[in-house]
Amino acid sequence: MIVAVDGPTASGKGTIAKALAAHFHLPHLDTGLLYRAVGRQCLLDGGDPDDPVAALAACSFPEGLLLDPELRSETTGGLASRVSVHPAVRQALYERQRSFALQPGGAVLDGRDIGTVIAPEAGTKLFVIASVEARAQRRFLEMQAQQREITLEAIAADLAARDERDRSRKDAPLVAAPDAIVIDTSDLRREEAVAAAIAAVDARRDQV
Ligand code: DC
Repeated sequence: MIVAVDGPTASGKGTIAKALAAHFHLPHLDTGLLYRAVGRQCLLDGGDPDDPVAALAACSFPEGLLLDPELRSETTGGLASRVSVHPAVRQALYERQRSFALQPGGAVLDGRDIGTVIAPEAGTKLFVIASVEARAQRRFLEMQAQQREITLEAIAADLAARDERDRSRKDAPLVAAPDAIVIDTSDLRREEAVAAAIAAVDARRDQV
């Protein structure tokens, strides 16, 4: 049982993926974290994230980097979006994601291209969306809780720029698989979004 959860930043896909993994007792991989680690490593190396050679070199980041709290920052998110446009970077991270998806018993993966590239055979594909306003507001509250100083407008502008880059890149752009179920979380509370996702997985399972 493979569950693919794709969607833009701050759409709620991470929350949904974690909740699905707990509900169905499946392992979960946040694939964005891998791209964030590459972006962060590239910065630490003093490399240019727009340079494919520097970005590829950063793919051999140490495992411990995945625990770095800095990976969650907006800055690292922006770097991740930049390194993720390079086909060589996507290729370097492919095997790890693919074998996670194929482990016996199944898995939940969230990202941008899980249903289209990493695990096109996934039994359930969810595409989680939300308006830029709703996403910016959520990010803003998270940032305030972490006492990070940033304005709502700056977050909204950053989200819009990242959406544009993720959607328009040539290799594995952010796009819903034709057989994906779209969940719009703009007006949903956390529990409502999770319940909708669980119902979608159950419905797909009943079909097979
Ligand atoms: O989901 P996130 O915000 O942690 O992802 C950070 C960036 O990584 C995102 O802007 C694009 C890239 N990414 C990707 O290209 N493919 C994925 N499967 C996951 C993330």
